[in-house]
Amino acid sequence: MSSPASRNLAASLDVARIRQDFPILDLKVNSKPLTFLDNAASSQMPKQVMDRWLKYQTTQHANIHRAVHYLSETATAEYEAARRRLQKFINAREEREVIFTSGTTESINLVAHGWGRKFLKQGDEIILTTLEHHSNIVPWQMVAEEAGAKIRVVPIFDNGELDFVAYEKLFNPRTKVTCFTHVSNALGTINPVREMVATARKHGVVTLVDGAQAAPHLPVDVQAIDCDFYAFSGHKLCGPTGIGILYGKAALLEAIQPFKGGGDMILSVTFEKTTYAPIPAKFEAGTPPIAAAITLGAAVDYLTGVGMDRIAAHETDLLGYATETVGVLPGVRIIGTAEKKAAVLSFVVDGVHPHDVGTLLNEDGVAIRTGHHCAQPVMQRFKVPATSRASFAFYNTLAEVDALVASIRRVQKVFG
Ligand code: ALA
Repeated sequence: MSSPASRNLAASLDVARIRQDFPILDLKVNSKPLTFLDNAASSQMPKQVMDRWLKYQTTQHANIHRAVHYLSETATAEYEAARRRLQKFINAREEREVIFTSGTTESINLVAHGWGRKFLKQGDEIILTTLEHHSNIVPWQMVAEEAGAKIRVVPIFDNGELDFVAYEKLFNPRTKVTCFTHVSNALGTINPVREMVATARKHGVVTLVDGAQAAPHLPVDVQAIDCDFYAFSGHKLCGPTGIGILYGKAALLEAIQPFKGGGDMILSVTFEKTTYAPIPAKFEAGTPPIAAAITLGAAVDYLTGVGMDRIAAHETDLLGYATETVGVLPGVRIIGTAEKKAAVLSFVVDGVHPHDVGTLLNEDGVAIRTGHHCAQPVMQRFKVPATSRASFAFYNTLAEVDALVASIRRVQKVFG
């Protein structure tokens, strides 16, 4: 369970008030109040953030970086202001270190293809971990195959924690890059990212952190982590879909190749040669998702207003309560019991396929994700085809955890 200190902090989070900002939480599903516990897949958006989108579209929209008229200049200023909001949110040193992408997947692909294609050679090694989402595996397999590089994988323990000693042992002079998640989407394990980066740094190895499941739940400080790259998505952060961030240290971003070519990312183009714009423009070819970026800026303002430390504390309480109440149900096994976890409760119900669990929970208005969670190596590690996963946000309540537990009990009754 959570510490008394976190309970005090959480007590200062006025969840009833916060929920008034989220109209979707008032929905009825199958005539039952919606219990939305699928936040790891995508979180909900508060009115203030929706209003920002509307304000942009109704009073500020034009293409950016291209014209001298009022609307283009306004949209450009708001887009760049959003970049500064994101810079502050993750404490990046410089705003040009924040690249707008379509999401975590594109961010990782940008590094794999931009950095990997340029720097990986035959025989080089890439360290990944068993905890990775497919989006932090597949792009590396693609570039490894092309370069003739090899992927090495850090094992995890039965509780879902990373084997840090095994991680340290994987480094050798052929190791060029290590890529790992900050928080596991399938298990909730929080990795010791600072220590993992420090180990890589001792060996002169480049680091990429997949922050998709961390940025919505924990205060993130990329300078403190000291990673070379950090990726996350807007739609898990109360923002819109189709927008995300790649943070990269300026020197590395300058050194790597853009993997998308087009307008707005060049200094000059002739048929003989193109020279690229400075970062961040070099990586933002074409018309970017302007409205989404500006709206994401409003989303991180909203979260900062609530307080990332308060969010983390409240979610720790929710997770602690859910772990206790789900964990004591006979015939239910929690998958992933690391000491440090964030907002995710994966479980299996004896004799019931997770798909059936999800279907019956939906009848009670309880939304969870079931399946392999785009993390098949995690499922293979625990010898299960799939799990049921409840994932929490700061607007969830202890009563919603009770609704989850009641619904799991009903599943067990239905399946005898
Ligand atoms: N990566 C998202 C999840 O874990 C979609 O559900």
